[in-house]
Amino acid sequence: MQQTATAVKDDAERVAFPIPANVFAEKVVSVKHYTDRLFSFRVTRPQAFRFRSGEFVMIGLPNAEKPVFRAYSIASPAWDEEIEFFSIKVPEGPLTSHLQKVQPGDTVLLRQKTTGTLVVDALTPAKRLFMISTGTGIAPFASLVRDPDTYEKFDQIILTHTCRDHAELAYGVELFEALAADPLIGELVQDRVTLYSTTTREITPQMGRITRLIETGRFYEDLGIAPLSPDTDRVMICGSMHMLKDVKELVESLGFKEGSLAHPADFVVERAFVG
Ligand code: A2P
Repeated sequence: MQQTATAVKDDAERVAFPIPANVFAEKVVSVKHYTDRLFSFRVTRPQAFRFRSGEFVMIGLPNAEKPVFRAYSIASPAWDEEIEFFSIKVPEGPLTSHLQKVQPGDTVLLRQKTTGTLVVDALTPAKRLFMISTGTGIAPFASLVRDPDTYEKFDQIILTHTCRDHAELAYGVELFEALAADPLIGELVQDRVTLYSTTTREITPQMGRITRLIETGRFYEDLGIAPLSPDTDRVMICGSMHMLKDVKELVESLGFKEGSLAHPADFVVERAFVG
């Protein structure tokens, strides 16, 4: 029997489309809107869906014969029973203009294959792991900071999150509050994981692009930590294109070498989803 799902095709019309072959059709469990640009949602997890924390998957909606799929970092850890995503809302975006309207009970499509470079296996072991993110680029790190495997490989984890304004930082702040209270790994992560949030457009106590904060040393002063060094540290980078380029150049200037699963090394980079 062919599966179908009812979806909002446009605002007025609800139409049933067949579910494409080889995709999981999962139900939305919850949705949370943070700002007019950002929201998160959780979907049911199929038994057969396996991934490494930090990876992404292609997702779409059953709203066309050939649905639009986009790469989304999985924000939940590999052990979680549900799958979480953190998304931008682009008014004219082929997927996000529709995705931002999902409600509990709606269907979301997931391709079966997951992939990505932001996995701990692409890095060689070290003392500290720095995760540098802007905007929705925090998503893969939301997965990794909730995974005990990350703490097996690194003693200290420092996650930076930079957004335009204060309200956009809420997802990361809530993530850390929940992490500290988590009965499974709250104790394990205690004193080992730090969130460093900054804004660039709204005036807050901690302001500035992460590149500038690193270059001036303010970042190290604020946290009371030793400067980045390939001898002790590894770096993961996820965010907008310009940020990736600038942070990559910065860490390369400090002697960090880019790693991959085939050749693990000092840092890895991935573009956050937009559109
Ligand atoms: P800024 O406000 O100075 O552009 P966006 O919402 O556009 O994706 O941006 C998310 C955050 O990334 C913003 O705080 C933005 O700062 C910052 N950002 C943009 N480009 C860079 C860059 N090249 N290096 C560091 N941070 C950047």
